Amino acid sequence: MMRPNNKLLLVAILGVICTGCQGKIVQFIFGDSLSDVGNNQYLSKGLAKANLPWYGIDFGNGMPNGRFCNGRTVADIIGDNMGLPRPPPFMDPSLNEDMIMENGVNFASGGGGILNETALYFIQRFSFYRQIKLFMGTQELIREKIGAEAADKFFKGSLYVVALGSNDFINNFLMPVEKDSWTYTDQGFVTYLVQTLQDQLTLLHSLGARRMLVFGLGPMGCIPLQRVLSTTGECRVRTNNLALSFNQATSKMIGDLSTTLPNATIQYGDAYDVVNDLINNPSKYGFSNSDSPCCSLGRIRPALTCIPASRLCKDRSQYVFWDEYHPSDSANELIANELIRKMGFSRSNLSEAPATAPSVAPPPAG
Ligand SMILES: *[C@@H]1O[C@H](CO)[C@@H](O)[C@H](O)[C@H]1NC(C)=O
Ligand SMILES: *[C@@H]1O[C@H](CO)[C@@H](O)[C@H](O)[C@H]1NC(C)=O
Ligand SMILES: *[C@@H]1O[C@H](CO)[C@@H](O)[C@H](O)[C@H]1NC(C)=O
Repeated sequence: MMRPNNKLLLVAILGVICTGCQGKIVQFIFGDSLSDVGNNQYLSKGLAKANLPWYGIDFGNGMPNGRFCNGRTVADIIGDNMGLPRPPPFMDPSLNEDMIMENGVNFASGGGGILNETALYFIQRFSFYRQIKLFMGTQELIREKIGAEAADKFFKGSLYVVALGSNDFINNFLMPVEKDSWTYTDQGFVTYLVQTLQDQLTLLHSLGARRMLVFGLGPMGCIPLQRVLSTTGECRVRTNNLALSFNQATSKMIGDLSTTLPNATIQYGDAYDVVNDLINNPSKYGFSNSDSPCCSLGRIRPALTCIPASRLCKDRSQYVFWDEYHPSDSANELIANELIRKMGFSRSNLSEAPATAPSVAPPPAG
């Protein structure tokens, strides 16, 4: 007999063996700039955009595509590994019902947070609640197209990826001008954040989400933007401790939710430890730099984003950070592989779920 290991849990989560499923499994992704695949570039007044060179230089044709990275996001790599199609951004003008049922939708938006009030100064971004509202609109479209019963089955069979939280700290709580920063203690803010996240996951469940993957935070006190705040360039200990508290509270909350929400399978995972080790011992992982952005404006630090006038490092695969905030493609690969290992994903037969759907268009190059 097989042991009840992670792989079996994954099979349960992804319903490879579910009998009532029809159609293929797609993902609905909720997140921030770490998962944005182009929504923000359609927000005309938004300040957080990745629509300039050199974003996307190692993706497809090398043109900017809205990802805040030189290459792939963590969600890209995990989805590829599970054989799932890459969901297009919600704002893609060509998005229609067929595309949604074939590929899912990515609602992630740079600057987006768990809290409505996070990163207001980016002017336009989708907070998690806003992303859920957009998802409800998407559900309405699908219901009109295929009917309530089939839509219910489709949404219950889909995979929901949730990865938010860093903006709630970096672009809210840790900003002295923001109200939350003087309203809450560190622990009080983490509690408020995780309670809000719990409400949001419960709302998603009430909308039919049954299989959810929720990701925690990395050592965000070590992003170049945080390091330049100290004269010595060290990681910010308080920021890292906030990430650890958030991860611990979220992990516990997910454990509770999975037992209280009917028929829910919710998995939590983070890559904090491996990224922390990567930052402290880059050479162990084949990296040469773990403290400054590959794309930078020389001594002008921090530059808000990577811009056309920026210079690139010589070897992008050896830099942990692509810009002031975001890991590089090669760091994302390491993070994704850690999550795949910890959460028990494997390159398996997902896309072979009893499917009558027409053959899949190839995912966007990259
Ligand atoms: C957050 O925004 C959503 C709509 O985007 C709204 O429904 C909700 O009431 C807001 N929550 C708070 C606490 O302001
Ligand atoms: C849970 O699953 C059972 C069996 O499929 C079903 O009868 C029940 O209605 C489900 N409950 C919810 C809340 O989805
Ligand atoms: C997956 O596919 C391989 C061959 O492609 C097969 O040997 C294996 O049994 C399949 N596993 C599942 C869980 O369907």
